[in-house]
Amino acid sequence: MDPNPSRGDTVPSGETQSPTATSVPYIPNQSRASFYTDGAKYWEGIEPTVQGMLGGFEEISEIDVGASKRFLSEFLEKKQRPTGRSRALDCGAGIGRVSKLLLTDLFDEVDMLEQNQKFLNKADEYLGDKRKKVARKICEGLQSFTPESERYDVIWLQWVTGHLTDKDFVDFLKRATNGLKPNGMICVKDNLSSTVVEMDNHDSSVTRPRELLLDIFRKANLKLVGERKQIRFPKGLYEVKMFAFKPKRAEKMESDPQADRY
Ligand SMILES: C[S@@+](CC[C@H](N)C(=O)[O-])C[C@H]1O[C@@H](n2cnc3c(N)ncnc32)[C@H](O)[C@@H]1O
Repeated sequence: MDPNPSRGDTVPSGETQSPTATSVPYIPNQSRASFYTDGAKYWEGIEPTVQGMLGGFEEISEIDVGASKRFLSEFLEKKQRPTGRSRALDCGAGIGRVSKLLLTDLFDEVDMLEQNQKFLNKADEYLGDKRKKVARKICEGLQSFTPESERYDVIWLQWVTGHLTDKDFVDFLKRATNGLKPNGMICVKDNLSSTVVEMDNHDSSVTRPRELLLDIFRKANLKLVGERKQIRFPKGLYEVKMFAFKPKRAEKMESDPQADRY
């Protein structure tokens, strides 16, 4: 699950692959017992660089971060009930690309959550001066992580949600909601498939269509408060969108004049 759509053997989840010579039935990757260990193994083999984080598309990093900053800033700079700026959580943080280039510029403190210790070790060097703004580096999978109650203004998930099964994704979001400060929000920036769930057995991930992603958030009692399409990425990549969600209890739908239609 990175911006590169062509690294793996991607198949739509509705289809079954032909049985192998030994006629072992094909198990869709989210149902495989090894879904998480295969994903972790894949990332163990990836170099701890921006190039590694972005599947060879290092050149999109600046455009990506610029768009994220504009999207997020609109919530932080709202006249009424702006989102707080004290602390953000970077989920699937890798070496800290998003922490360094986006979150440490906008928040007083950032926590990084990443399953791969090698990436977190590399972050100390990669973050440079920004390292002092990173309060915690947490080495854990999203599927088991529970945040401290009311610790975060923003929980940011970028190019990582495809490594969670649908059920674990919903459960994670419910726990994450508890980790939000009042008026906090959860943001996702990710690839979207056009109609069906596409499985990538190379890195053990899925790419979901927008409707499924929104359905997962609905199941976690979150509502959409912002949506924006990433533009100026090279042709041939998946469509990438940014979404912002708030707990249903929190407040009425906010309107975002520049957002796509919901
Ligand atoms: C495509 S990279 C994206 C890194 C970063 N979000 C960025 O945009 O630069 C995906 C990251 O998610 C991490 N990851 C994969 N599965 C995960 C899981 N279940 N829990 C936490 N992190 C995970 C990988 O180790 C990798 O660092």
